[in-house]
Amino acid sequence: MCGIVGYIGKREAYPILIKGLKRLEYRGYDSAGVALINKRDDLNVYKTKGKVADLENFCSDKDITGTVGIAHTRWATHGEPSSVNAHPHYSESKNLAIIHNGIIENYAQIKKNLINKGMHFRSDTDTEVLVQLIEYIQVTRKVPLLSAVQMALRQVIGAYAIALLDKREPNQIIAARKASPLVIGIGKDSGEFFLGSDASPIIEYTDQVVYLDDENIAVMRPGEPLKVVDIHNIALNPDVQTIDMNLGQIEKGGFPHFMLKEIFEQPECLKNCMRGRVVSRTVETRAMTDGKKEGPMQSHTEMGVVLSSIVDHRQQILNAHRIIIVACGTSWHAGLIGKQMLETYCRIPVDVEYASEFRYRNPVVTKDDVVIAISQSGETADTLAAIKLAKEKGAFIYGICNAIGSSIARATDTGTYIHVGPEIGVASTKAFTGQVTVLCLLALAVGKEKGTVSDKDYQEITTQLWDIPEKMKEVLKLNNKIADLSRTFTYARNFLYLGRGYSYPVALEGALKLKEISYIHAEGYPAAEMKHGPIALIDSDMPVVVIAPHDAMYEKVLSNIQEIKARDGRVIALVTKGDETISKIADEVIELPKTLECLEPLLATIPLQLLAYHVAVCKGKNVDQPRNLAKSVTVE
Ligand code: F6R
Repeated sequence: MCGIVGYIGKREAYPILIKGLKRLEYRGYDSAGVALINKRDDLNVYKTKGKVADLENFCSDKDITGTVGIAHTRWATHGEPSSVNAHPHYSESKNLAIIHNGIIENYAQIKKNLINKGMHFRSDTDTEVLVQLIEYIQVTRKVPLLSAVQMALRQVIGAYAIALLDKREPNQIIAARKASPLVIGIGKDSGEFFLGSDASPIIEYTDQVVYLDDENIAVMRPGEPLKVVDIHNIALNPDVQTIDMNLGQIEKGGFPHFMLKEIFEQPECLKNCMRGRVVSRTVETRAMTDGKKEGPMQSHTEMGVVLSSIVDHRQQILNAHRIIIVACGTSWHAGLIGKQMLETYCRIPVDVEYASEFRYRNPVVTKDDVVIAISQSGETADTLAAIKLAKEKGAFIYGICNAIGSSIARATDTGTYIHVGPEIGVASTKAFTGQVTVLCLLALAVGKEKGTVSDKDYQEITTQLWDIPEKMKEVLKLNNKIADLSRTFTYARNFLYLGRGYSYPVALEGALKLKEISYIHAEGYPAAEMKHGPIALIDSDMPVVVIAPHDAMYEKVLSNIQEIKARDGRVIALVTKGDETISKIADEVIELPKTLECLEPLLATIPLQLLAYHVAVCKGKNVDQPRNLAKSVTVE
């Protein structure tokens, strides 16, 4: 998730671009860059690792003149954060410069073809591959930039929002999008155009905007009307809209808080997380007629998981005698779910450790162990220290991080990024479901290689995992219902969250969310443990959230609910759609779409995030920045 800004008109572009980048910095902030065409038609690119302020410093002695420019703030996906990998990227001849938000999935294949044709690459990014492809087509087919862009975009698979400059066509910006947002601001009399990943860099100058649709390309030339075509060169009528939102609303995508925005982003985030990792292939088999003769060819689709970390480090991972997961807070809860998946489908024993405990107690770790470190920020001091300790003891270290190029990502031997984009709300939401998704992919990939997961389970889980984003959208439709429900419970002083099996870590996560943003005391417990103590707390003032999907633990959890009701407790039950038994005894029921048991946490967590959010809002708390908490805990 990167930030894109562009300007073309009569004003100096640089100040507009820098201001726009600062407004977009919430989208990503590991490096930044700008490309400007000056009066002599030089195309100057300046970029640096760090924040927009670092870019300003870097540019302080450079030629920053020009009325045409594009700029970018990066949240790395391919290639570590560095000046070389920062955008804009030049083409081979340096006639073109591009900025890009998204992921070009087939970049490796395109890059290989271009290298075979003699092209050279400066960075590790998928973005450079795209600008090189455009230039290659421009030169070999002798076509104008727009046609080259159209031909290139017809070849790429993936998501993109791009903006492109060509110094030989200096009075023009070309922009295009697919599955990544892009907004064009139309200045007075079409004399100038603004470009942004969202409208935040634009609203200061104009309220007239065009939101590009997928596979649409915009050509901006000052003094001319905005031209929009699709990648097949069909001309389109730009739909000019008037925006009526303030800056804060735009950065938060129209949501009142980043936390709510991030909860709602989860379907899209999981698609990004699985993109290129969950793959389908068509398998052809020949049918047999009457059991003997060969019949016609038949085909069916098989799903599979590809994780490059497993391909590259097969021996270390498959031969692990034990896996130790180290993490803190929400990431630790994801680890508890990962333990169940890895033990079930890989038959490797898994310990889940609080990094802060592990690092101080001289744990038994050997070179046959694989340590999985889970961290959204990639900067948590205890997790980093736990990795260092495990490394000293010879373990192989696997990272599951969100922040690319972070300290933890760099300290690991290999790993998998969750690719859910920057998480701004202090309470972790989309990172949790991203972490659980990656742990599921890991369990499937390792289980398949080891032969410990049956073909049936492998196919079924992969297929159902792929369907989770759509089911998450169903769950998000419960938002209003949960908001109403929250009002009833705003004045509760304590909450209990119960679950068993895969739902137990969900109970812990639900309780943590409520505690940290609403300041209501909440505890998560394995449901069966209730009778060993917490049952004494239950009375009519105690809301008990029970995660009770229709799985192997259902009957047991049903008994636990009856025990609570017998003591006058108020039960909010999360059940599988169509459940008639619990619906009759629980006080409140939240229905979830059916999925496989191991995937239930991905759906059940969402109502609990929403419950915590709405209770905190009702109590007037600062949801995005709760007291005493920091987004990244870089101290012990
Ligand atoms: C809870 C939360 C924290 C973090 C924990 C670890 O909502 O955000 O509990 O999960 O501080 O942080 P990371 O994952 O960045 O290592």
